[in-house]
Amino acid sequence: MKVDILLGLQWGDEGKGKIVDFLAPKYTVVARFQGGPNAGHTLEFDGMKHVLHQIPSGIFRKSIANVIGNGVVLDPVIFQREIMALEDLQADPRQNLYISKKAQLILPTHRLLDAAYEKAKGKDKIGSTLKGIGPTYQDKIGRQGLRVGDIVMPDFNERYEALKNKHLEVLDFLKFDYELDEEKPFFAAIEFLRGFTLIDSEYFVNQKLKEGNSVLAEGAQGSLLDIDFGSYPFVTSSNTMVAGACTGLGIPPAVVGEVYGVFKAYCTRVGSGPFPTELHEATGEKLREVGHEFGATTGRPRRTGWLDLPALKYSVMINGVTQLFMMKADVLGHFDEIKVCTAYKLASGEITDKLSFEMMNEEVEPVYKSFKGWGVFADVPGSLDELPFELNNYIRYIEQETGVPVKLVSIGPDRTETIS
Ligand code: GDP
Ligand code: IMO
Ligand code: MG
Repeated sequence: MKVDILLGLQWGDEGKGKIVDFLAPKYTVVARFQGGPNAGHTLEFDGMKHVLHQIPSGIFRKSIANVIGNGVVLDPVIFQREIMALEDLQADPRQNLYISKKAQLILPTHRLLDAAYEKAKGKDKIGSTLKGIGPTYQDKIGRQGLRVGDIVMPDFNERYEALKNKHLEVLDFLKFDYELDEEKPFFAAIEFLRGFTLIDSEYFVNQKLKEGNSVLAEGAQGSLLDIDFGSYPFVTSSNTMVAGACTGLGIPPAVVGEVYGVFKAYCTRVGSGPFPTELHEATGEKLREVGHEFGATTGRPRRTGWLDLPALKYSVMINGVTQLFMMKADVLGHFDEIKVCTAYKLASGEITDKLSFEMMNEEVEPVYKSFKGWGVFADVPGSLDELPFELNNYIRYIEQETGVPVKLVSIGPDRTETIS
């Protein structure tokens, strides 16, 4: 069997959690392969709304094995909090959650370093979620990180102290004011984590495939935040693109099946960095209000703008997307005129639809095409054939431009507000 991979194609928060939860019954395994508590994936069903940060979005389906892969950076304190909240909601994560021993651990000092680096950057700050993501991946690549498997080793405390002391030296060098008051909850959370099923997840996933099971890999963030292909340096510290699933789970490219690309019918971004179609005034405010565009992890207001087609085509290209899933079509229904950016005008006057190195480093002016709005939905259409005429036009245009079919349209946050 194959691993289907679900990815965000924009700057994150496309609605990945909702769709993983929706698709999960078709799969035996749901696996996270990168990122960590910087993610906030919202699920809504049966009148309940729940945000997951590190736990895969298949967790509410008891028959599904949920895997936290080696590519993830795990904060034990947030993990403990998430598990306790899930247990209150009748989920049973002790039965259907498996954690890679090779996943990296986020230490309290990683979080302090994140804050110190952001402060040192001043007005050029990334707008990090301050969950310690960058510093933890730095230690991974610098070959000095601590991993989940280390927590059962006799020298864990010693190695923790050694790494912590290195971090404290950096914090002192940066003259960063801090209080290290999270060590007690950290060690309590490490003890809590020891009670879970810690595995070599590459064997687990490949064995499941060999036995004929289907696997869904759940991406976090989005392709435009990818460490290599995003709007660097305003990115996260992992490969959020399709290839990240291979390194983050230990699966060969040949087992990749469908690549589902999730995108909003418009764009949002939290944190700093270029956003060519950003709307600053009443229209942007209306998108934020109608779309409830406030961060699921930090509560920050999200920046909003029209759909950026060159950026979407770029994400489709680097990921080999085979199916597109369009989210939040209901939100655009509140607008009479809807715009799509088809190209960028550079400072030189050149018009381009390429996200070149130069383009990503200068102010560009979007070139727009207008569409007529489709109004608000009175109820959920039974199939994609029953969508309003104007929405259908909008979708056909995106399909034609990207060369990829739109196979799912979402018109509300609830599991049931999904048309496929
Ligand atoms: P993720 O990080 O990609 O999982 O997305 P988030 O959960 O951070 O943000 C998506 C937000 O949009 C959440 O609040 C969802 O409940 C909500 N949402 C998802 N799909 C739709 C939709 O089709 N329409 C509306 N109005 N809201 C949606
Ligand atoms: P999900 O999985 C939206 C953004 C941050 C910041 C940049 C770097 O919910 O889509 P980091 O904390 O990773 O160092 O922050 O990336 N960012 C996200 N934006 N959704 C996310 O995850 C994000 N994870 C990180 O706002 O601009
Ligand atoms: Mg999110």
